[in-house]
Amino acid sequence: MEGSILIVDDDPIVVKSCEYVLKPEGYEVKGVTKVKEAMGVLVNQNFDLIITDLKMPEIDGVKFISWLKEKNIPSGIIVMTGYPSQESIKDTLELGIVDYVTKPFSPSFLLDVVAKGIKFMMTRTTLLKGEVDASKSKAEELKKIIQTNKNKPGALIPILQKTQELIGYLPASVQRIIAKELRIPVSEVHAVVSFYSFFKMKPRGKHSIRLCLGTACYVKQATEILEKLKSHLKIEADGITEDRKFSLETVRCLGACGLAPVVVVDGDTYGAVDPVKADELLVNYE
Ligand code: FES
Repeated sequence: MEGSILIVDDDPIVVKSCEYVLKPEGYEVKGVTKVKEAMGVLVNQNFDLIITDLKMPEIDGVKFISWLKEKNIPSGIIVMTGYPSQESIKDTLELGIVDYVTKPFSPSFLLDVVAKGIKFMMTRTTLLKGEVDASKSKAEELKKIIQTNKNKPGALIPILQKTQELIGYLPASVQRIIAKELRIPVSEVHAVVSFYSFFKMKPRGKHSIRLCLGTACYVKQATEILEKLKSHLKIEADGITEDRKFSLETVRCLGACGLAPVVVVDGDTYGAVDPVKADELLVNYE
């Protein structure tokens, strides 16, 4: 897997462990134990991801992330900490981090989070390149949606629904705009978006594939279907293809357990899917 990563943690054992896990997978990794050292490195070098601890002497993680934002450092940020608190989660979410992991974590968990983070950053870069003009007009539309609805009772959910219709998903940056305009905490917006499965925080392809990994589907080889679809589409779970034609999402239950294993493509439900031939479902959409 390609990608460059800066690890920032005052515990050298954590830094070494991350390097030990990530380097053999092909990532270019640099580890530092001081925030000031990280700041110095970032003057001359860009990274796809920065994985940072929160509790560090001299300059803590939240101040470091604020500095990254002030300096417009384009890397995705993943926070890792052994001391998560509501307050620290809220602060870092408001600063626009990509993901949040708690220590200790297993090597496979770290690899999974990093792979998703790198993929997210690559997708975001592609979207930004292709959509600068479109995003300007969408920003105007978004303002209108908020202004029209903000004084209505229970305004948040209709605003989120209309915004998702407009943009296709609800990235952290858009959640921050909505929170600011409604004068409510970002964590409140984030809580609503995460609670309802209808809301999406990542972009969806022209065709949206949802694969159920709930118990009934899991015991009928849903994970093999997942592997088949991932290798056919060349994306990870919850990813989107480069041409943005397909996105692959895993869900916990699609409410059709009697048909397990179940895949839904756009509005079409496929039951008793054969794991070996799962990719053949996509022929009609290609
Ligand atoms: S567990 Fe898959 S549809 Fe319910």
